[in-house]
Amino acid sequence: MRILTGVQPSGKLHLGNFFSVIRKLKEYQNSTDLFCFVADLHSLTTFSSKEKQNENSYNALCDFLALGIDPNKCTFWLQSSVPEVTELTWYLSHSISVNQLNLAHSYKDKVAKGFNPGGGLFLYPVLMAADILGFDSDRVPVGKDQKQHLEFARDIASSFNREIGPVFKIPEPEIDEATALVPGTDGQKMSKSYGNTINFFDTEKELKKSIMSIMTDSAGVDEAKDPEKSHIFAIHSLFLNQTERESLKQKFLIPGTGYGDLKKQLLQDTLDYFAPYRKEREKIASDPTFVNTALKQGRDKARNTITTVLDRVRKELGIYRF
Ligand code: ADP
Ligand code: TRP
Repeated sequence: MRILTGVQPSGKLHLGNFFSVIRKLKEYQNSTDLFCFVADLHSLTTFSSKEKQNENSYNALCDFLALGIDPNKCTFWLQSSVPEVTELTWYLSHSISVNQLNLAHSYKDKVAKGFNPGGGLFLYPVLMAADILGFDSDRVPVGKDQKQHLEFARDIASSFNREIGPVFKIPEPEIDEATALVPGTDGQKMSKSYGNTINFFDTEKELKKSIMSIMTDSAGVDEAKDPEKSHIFAIHSLFLNQTERESLKQKFLIPGTGYGDLKKQLLQDTLDYFAPYRKEREKIASDPTFVNTALKQGRDKARNTITTVLDRVRKELGIYRF
């Protein structure tokens, strides 16, 4: 069973990223053939400067290594270090219509907001399909917002298999309903683009600021609070098992604890939970040799894999080889 996923290096990781995808990867690398990469080519759709692009990529790589992605247990690489994926993107782009690409939320939403997106954003789902299909992936864990991209990848694979030749495995999306939509501090989906994230590698001061900014209703200390309607409860629940969740629920239901205290408890649990990762991250970030060695190893494994798939594709397309 090959599981593959990618995450864009477009800023600091937040609880939505962690609880929907990253946490599972550590289990998968022990039990399956995990492929995991930092999607720096995708992040060019939001390019601001070379310094930022470079820094974001390095930071994301450090994040993953610090969170326990082990280059000896899984194939871990930087997307741009495997140029074969862009060749595959071109081949696949003929197996999806412009009409269908026009329906991609990632593109459509930008157009609706009045942007004039570049061709890269339009082809974003095809590059993602190449990421997935180029490595014979069986399953792809992602958040709910990526569901449509997975459907595109499946459509592209089926169309290529039917019309050109039987080359691709049809990947299955893996969307965990319990954590599919982690809410942000304002209750909308936690997302960098909404500015409502809780970034677990932030400084303690920054973390405190984000957690204290979680929106609440006006219930006072002496009033019962509805846990089901509270973003604090929704976020805190991610860290807790069933018993702990029940006991937190009681703190909401029985008057006596204010939102300020509930937030402080969430802050403490966040700091405790991520403390070992934060320590590890400091160590890794100051050791580029370690990071680069891990990356070279992953790149070589990834290139070997995609090359065998590309050979099948080139053969079916009649690409002349010499
Ligand atoms: P963002 O929305 O902050 O830009 P990304 O697009 O970089 O996040 O997401 C990386 C991964 O984490 C994707 O698989 C995405 O679906 C998942 N993800 C991001 N935010 C959330 C969230 N709030 N709840 C669940 N999954 C999320
Ligand atoms: N588009 C994904 C995101 O923004 C990142 C990504 C790129 C990805 N290629 C992928 C995820 C392949 C899974 C599989 O979150």
